[in-house]
Amino acid sequence: SLVEKGGFQHHMLREVYEAPYALLRTLSSVQEKYLQLAARLVLGAEDVYIIANGTSLHAGMVASYYLSELVGISPVVTSAAEFPLYYVENVSPGSLVVAISQSGETGDVLSSLYEAKLRGATILGVTNYIGSRLARLSNVYLPIAAGPELAVPATKTFTSTLLLLYLVALRASREAGKTDASTYAQKVSSAREAALRLAEALPRVDEEAKQAVKLVRGCRGGYVVSRGITYPLALEAALKLKEAAYFHAEGVEAGEFKHGPFVLVEEGFFTGFIVPVEKLSAEATYPLIQSAAEAGASVVAVGFEGDGRLAEIKSERLAVISTPPAERHLAPIAYAIPLQLLAYRLGVELGRPIDAPRYLTKAVTR
Ligand code: AGP
Repeated sequence: SLVEKGGFQHHMLREVYEAPYALLRTLSSVQEKYLQLAARLVLGAEDVYIIANGTSLHAGMVASYYLSELVGISPVVTSAAEFPLYYVENVSPGSLVVAISQSGETGDVLSSLYEAKLRGATILGVTNYIGSRLARLSNVYLPIAAGPELAVPATKTFTSTLLLLYLVALRASREAGKTDASTYAQKVSSAREAALRLAEALPRVDEEAKQAVKLVRGCRGGYVVSRGITYPLALEAALKLKEAAYFHAEGVEAGEFKHGPFVLVEEGFFTGFIVPVEKLSAEATYPLIQSAAEAGASVVAVGFEGDGRLAEIKSERLAVISTPPAERHLAPIAYAIPLQLLAYRLGVELGRPIDAPRYLTKAVTR
C-alpha cells in the first residue's frame, strides 16, 4: 500500500529518496575499531579478491579504484559466479576475500566463501543484514546499515556500500601512513556534506530525470558510457534500466566507444553519458556527446551542477541531469542517484512492475 511505501508510489522511489539518509546512517553506524580491523586485514593480505554479484559487484569494481588509488593495492574483482571456477585455485591462507552482498544470502557468494575458507583465506564481509549467512561466514564483517531495502532494484544499499568501501580504503590509507589524521577526518566530513547536498538536490534531480525520460521513452535501447572511476556506474545504470524499465542498455567504457559500439548510434537509439571526473577524460567525453546527438540519438548526459562545457552543447536531442559536485572518490555516489532515478522514471513511463521485475528475486539464493 501507499502507506507502507511512505507515501511514495513504489518502494524503489522511496529507497532512492532515503539514500542520503542511509549514507548518514552508514557513517554513524560503522565502528572505528572494526574499520581499523578491516583496514589491517587489507594491508596485511598477500592478495585481495573482491567478490559479489550484480549491483554489489559494481560497488566492488569502484572499490578497486579506491584501493588502488588510496592504498596502492590492486585487488582482483570478480563475479562470485566466476570465482570458484577460475580464481579460487590461487587462494591461500594469505588471501583476503572481500565479499559484498546486500542480502548476505546470495548463493554464489556463499559457495565462493566455503571454497575460499577451505583454502584458509580470511573473509571480510560487507552486508546489510547482520544476521545473514554472509555475516556468519566472515572473520570480520561491516554493516552497510542502509536500513531494509524492499525493491528488487538495489538503490540505497548501493550508495551506502560505496561509502563503506571508501571508508575502508581511506582507513587503510591512514593506517599505512598515506593519509594523515586530519585529511582523514576532513574526507569523512566531506562525505557527510555530500550526503546532505544530495538530500537537498534530490527533488530537482528527479524532475530532470522525468524530463529526460521524454527523450528516452521511444528508444529501442541504448548505451550508458563513462570511464575511470565512474565506468562501473555505467554498468550499474544499464542494469537498473533493465530491471526497473525492461529497457535494454549496455554499459560502455568511453575509450571503447569508437572501437565498435558507436556504429549503432542513430535516431531511436538512446545514448547516456556519465561525465567522467578526470578532467582529461571529461574533455574527451564532450565531443562524444556532441557526435551522438548529431548522429540522431536521444542523448542524456549526467554531469555535475555548473558544468559549463555540458551547458554549451546545444541540441534538442540532449537532456542533462545534474548532480551536486563531489570530490573524485564520492562522485560514484553522487552519480548513482540521477541514474537510478532515470531508470525509475522510465519504468514508470513504460508501466513496468518496478519493485518486482519478472524472474528476479531480492536475494538470488541458488
Ligand atoms: C540489483 O539491482 C539486482 N537486484 C541484483 O543484481 C543484486 O545486486 C544481486 O543479486 C546481488 O545481490 P546481493 O547484494 O544481495 O548479494
